[in-house]
Amino acid sequence: MEYSLQADHLTKLFNGQLPAVNDITLRVRPGEFLTLLGPSGGGKTTTLRLLAGFETPTKGRIQIGDHIVADDSHFMPPEKRKIGMVFQDYALFPHVDVAGNIAFGLRGSSKDKARQVKRLLTLVGLTQFAERMPYELSGGQQQRVALARALAPNPDILLLDEPFSNLDTGLRAQVRSDVRHILLETGTTAIFVTHDQQEALSLSDEIAIIFDGKLAQVATPHALYNRPVNMQVAKFVGDANFLPAEAHGMTADSRLGEVKLFHPKSGRVQLMIRPEALAVGFDEEGSRATVLWREFYGHYQRLGLALADGTTELIARTGVDRYFQRGDAVSVSLALPALAYDSESQHVLS
Ligand SMILES: Nc1ncnc2c1ncn2[C@@H]1O[C@H](COP(=O)(O)OP(=O)(O)OP(=O)(O)O)[C@@H](O)[C@H]1O
Ligand SMILES: [Mg+2]
Repeated sequence: MEYSLQADHLTKLFNGQLPAVNDITLRVRPGEFLTLLGPSGGGKTTTLRLLAGFETPTKGRIQIGDHIVADDSHFMPPEKRKIGMVFQDYALFPHVDVAGNIAFGLRGSSKDKARQVKRLLTLVGLTQFAERMPYELSGGQQQRVALARALAPNPDILLLDEPFSNLDTGLRAQVRSDVRHILLETGTTAIFVTHDQQEALSLSDEIAIIFDGKLAQVATPHALYNRPVNMQVAKFVGDANFLPAEAHGMTADSRLGEVKLFHPKSGRVQLMIRPEALAVGFDEEGSRATVLWREFYGHYQRLGLALADGTTELIARTGVDRYFQRGDAVSVSLALPALAYDSESQHVLS
């Protein structure tokens, strides 16, 4: 089985509105962790609900493993799809203890159920909590129970809709990496929804960017960050500087002087420069700039720079081997080749 899940031209129209999901095609390999990332209202939850069977597609086709679960002539209800779901609000049963919550979707003898509950309690590190009630647990513990409950029936695919958004920052990072390890350990195929770019970049095997119901790009975190297909995607995943330039093949003339390009281009372009690609120092080489502001993050610093032309501002990110202050006169140059977008279409390949 090449893919755990295939969705083709998935489209959902709610009455009289613009499509919430518009012609989305996805492929998910066994054991893969795919993230749907995009702004609020973009159609991420609707996509998950279509995959789970809580909505019927207006158009398109969904195949899970070898089974077509939705198309023009088929519709398999959610309980038959072998899909587990974890939601933002955990939705634990409040009057049932932890073990009871995990056992909820299980069939078989009570002995088999008990064995499976024990296995999952161990997996999520909650063996001591089997008899606690949900209200006696912290947010992170509740989230792990919700994960155990979703994994208990051994689903083919796990869908997670912003499962960490109710947790505070520190706990969120912890639960997030716990969940990732548990999924790796169990080899579970997962589709995860978030609008947090850092979360998506750090956890995913692949990321699907969704804007206004449409797929803008599907790529590995590395490729997405370094080669976004258009300026909108570039801005959405991390800080991006844009600088107008005149391209001549593999180089371009810009306010940072002559810079190297990733792809050959000619004519007017917009360079996309990530903050860490800028080398900032007190050298003779490079363009002159002034530090406008500085934010210190312990292991790196973020700098706002004004080039000497007085109109260009850039964001740079440097290590902490050297300290910069507001008002410092610095040199700035490009340490890596720049990605060039066509000025008109704002795409890499025009
Ligand atoms: N049941 C529904 N009836 C009508 N419109 C809906 C329904 N569910 C979602 N929508 C609309 O579909 C669009 C996509 O919504 P969806 O919940 O999928 O977005 P999302 O990407 O999950 O956003 P968020 O990040 O805020 O959770 C929105 O415009 C929303 O208002
Ligand atoms: Mg949503």
